[in-house]
Amino acid sequence: MPCSNADPLFLILGFHSKQRQESLKGEAVFSDCWLSLRLSAECVKMNLLAKTPPMGWNSWNTFGPNISDALIRETADTMVNEGLLDVGYEYLVIDDCWSLKERNAEGHLVPDPVKFPFGMKALADYVHEKGLKFGMYSCDGTKTCAGYPASLEHEFTDAQTFAAWGVDFLKYDNCYKPTSLEGKLLYRRMAMALRATGRDILFSACNWGTENVETWIRSTGAHMWRSTGDINDSWASIKNLVLSQDDHEPFSGPGCFNDIDMLVVGMYGKGNVGFGGCNDTQYKTHFALWCMMNSPLMIGCDIRVMNEITKKILTNPELIAINQDPEGRQPYRVRPSMASDTEIRVFVKPLLGGDYAIGFFNLSDQKVSPALELWDIGLPASSGCGLMLHDTWTHEDIGVFYESIQPVLDPYDCAVYRATLVLP
Ligand code: GAL
Repeated sequence: MPCSNADPLFLILGFHSKQRQESLKGEAVFSDCWLSLRLSAECVKMNLLAKTPPMGWNSWNTFGPNISDALIRETADTMVNEGLLDVGYEYLVIDDCWSLKERNAEGHLVPDPVKFPFGMKALADYVHEKGLKFGMYSCDGTKTCAGYPASLEHEFTDAQTFAAWGVDFLKYDNCYKPTSLEGKLLYRRMAMALRATGRDILFSACNWGTENVETWIRSTGAHMWRSTGDINDSWASIKNLVLSQDDHEPFSGPGCFNDIDMLVVGMYGKGNVGFGGCNDTQYKTHFALWCMMNSPLMIGCDIRVMNEITKKILTNPELIAINQDPEGRQPYRVRPSMASDTEIRVFVKPLLGGDYAIGFFNLSDQKVSPALELWDIGLPASSGCGLMLHDTWTHEDIGVFYESIQPVLDPYDCAVYRATLVLP
């Protein structure tokens, strides 16, 4: 992906190049044109995948094994026609169950000809023509979690196959892995195999947060890593995943984001992981949490039939802007006063340009009113400063607050503000 002039990386490169110009003064004259060519070349050379949390759609949550060429094409059409691509959802990912149960005589993976009669290359071409990127799935063990052939000892062959098909994203699972082999070794191996293809393939590691993955995954070359077990479409699951992430914040950032699993927004209990479903307030809070916690945003519902509320939640531009903030800073957690910490989460995330995102999340079934003392985020009363709050759900400014912020939250509800510092 080329850099734009607005890209902070571009500015940093520009700065270094100017310094170099200074140091070379008298030896050479650098025209503007030369400088931009040089910057473009540097941008291309650098791996710019996952500068911000990846966004897209994945087949698993709703469709499980019931996937097909037609489903993927219709989903691609919907991503474009419903404006999902416009707000950033660019990867269309086929999860488990896409291949035959055996490799062919040459040892290659073979797409199931009933599900994918035109093969993967033709499907990838269709997805690319829509302006989307194409993702697939494999696993570091002898079989995938659903029992299909996986990539252990076939890593370099499979990576070449994926590259030849035009794959831009590989989700890499962790089932049927021999216990004698460290996960770290196998994720390094597939990362290397993908890099060896010469194609930009985003590497999505999925070992469910095991083996202290946060301490080694970035250095394998992965671009996102599952820090949780599997989500299902229930409030209990969403809540458990969020609470399990305490103290993970330092391990996420540009180039490699922690993934709290795919979204269940809009599933309403239907499909492969539709364990009962959630109400719209719960979906709203789920989405806001994923945005605030810098998780990749991979839609899991059947977008071909999504309702207006689902669409409104998934395309909220102000929450997506927080998730996709170019500075890519992770949030920190603040313990609220006036409410128990066990079922309330309050996060603060610095944003590019000086604003802050501040999110209050009520994970409980009671009405609560947690307070954030501004002292805890760096604003003592003696500073005389306040925060102008803008509500990211109503899209309205709600006033300037001093000393503390204390929203009233209905059961399962949230409040997420964009806050601008107001000097005395
Ligand atoms: C799980 C993974 C899920 C899904 C599933 C497919 O291990 O966490 O997201 O990919 O395998 O079998």
